Amino acid sequence: MKILEFELKNFRNCISVDKAITAEKTLIIGKNGQGKTNILEALYFLSTLKSPRTSNIKEFVNFNSNAFSVKATILKNGVESIIEADYELGEKKKLLVNGLKTPTREFRGFLKSVLFSSDDLMLLRGAPADRRNWLDRAIVQIYPAYDDRISKYERIRLQKNKLLKDDVVNMELLSIYNEQLAITGANIIHVRKRYLNEISKTAAEKHKSISETENLTIEYGYPGNDVETILAELKSELNERKQEELARKQCCVGPHRDDILFFINNSDASKFASQGQQRTLILALKLAELDTLTEKTGEPPILLLDDVLAELDDLRQNFLLKSIQAGIQTILTSVDTLLFDNEFLDTVNLIRVEGGKIISD
Ligand SMILES: Nc1ncnc2c1ncn2[C@@H]1O[C@H](COP(=O)(O)OP(=O)(O)OP(=O)(O)O)[C@@H](O)[C@H]1O
Ligand SMILES: [Mg+2]
Repeated sequence: MKILEFELKNFRNCISVDKAITAEKTLIIGKNGQGKTNILEALYFLSTLKSPRTSNIKEFVNFNSNAFSVKATILKNGVESIIEADYELGEKKKLLVNGLKTPTREFRGFLKSVLFSSDDLMLLRGAPADRRNWLDRAIVQIYPAYDDRISKYERIRLQKNKLLKDDVVNMELLSIYNEQLAITGANIIHVRKRYLNEISKTAAEKHKSISETENLTIEYGYPGNDVETILAELKSELNERKQEELARKQCCVGPHRDDILFFINNSDASKFASQGQQRTLILALKLAELDTLTEKTGEPPILLLDDVLAELDDLRQNFLLKSIQAGIQTILTSVDTLLFDNEFLDTVNLIRVEGGKIISD
């Protein structure tokens, strides 16, 4: 998978950026606040229609404009396509492939990417919602239909929340919502568990390669692996905690409350891992995400590395750079070139960004 060229119009502070990508590695250099992350975010959005920074598409529109557009020419399985996402305030976003309107699910299938940013290094210390978001964004790239299930679940959950706030709750309706939530929720939990099973082994191997001795395990705190067991469990939990939900007037049970647990040598990494151990873990996790996506789609995705090298020590930097050597198109950002050796700099396409514009390359 390759991006051959991209074009941003009024995407955040990038009013007009147009760039052909000639080398396998592209390094975007710029001072703080110039637009490095914005460029990666635009490409990631084109790939997933999501951003780790916001779920509100309006935020992408340049402050002085009322619309944005992101477009790229990509090469996938030897075939060139032009993919484009346009949005105007007050309208629905438009997705185009080779000029033809394309449904969301199909559009997401075109450009696959893994984004690894310095914010990800906080994943373990963050809230469960951060870990669920990471997981859901990773899954959607492999199973584009997964996002529909999440939306459906969220829709029913909001309806149930509203119902729970009524002075007199319609118990019959509550049972119907619970039944629907159990079915959709069990499906979501099942896919999440399956994905974590798929990446766990690779992540553990990578973690061991970096740390030499440590054993990484990942758990999703829900019993059972097959969808029937999960469904039965979820149903009984919804039943058992019905009074609590009625008292608290909100949904307390389901995949919107779950967490992903990481253990290093059997101890909870979110509580006990040192900063270095956490970085190793996240690096291993991201590289496992990359491998799994490559395996599932038959072609390496593009890799977007936002400011991560500066946060890693030499050992982990080398491991990362070694892992992405051949065949993976990588776009990296950094405040300066000091971190990179000359050998690396000789091979990259260097872009300098200032005030949302590419000023030299
Ligand atoms: N919708 C928008 N319209 C105009 N400018 C925006 C919009 N959204 C964000 N910005 C601005 O874009 C600028 C660049 O942000 P970006 O996150 O890309 O910086 P960066 O180069 O990655 O910096 P850092 O090195 O600090 O991470 C910020 O100053 C921000 O205020
Ligand atoms: Mg940035």
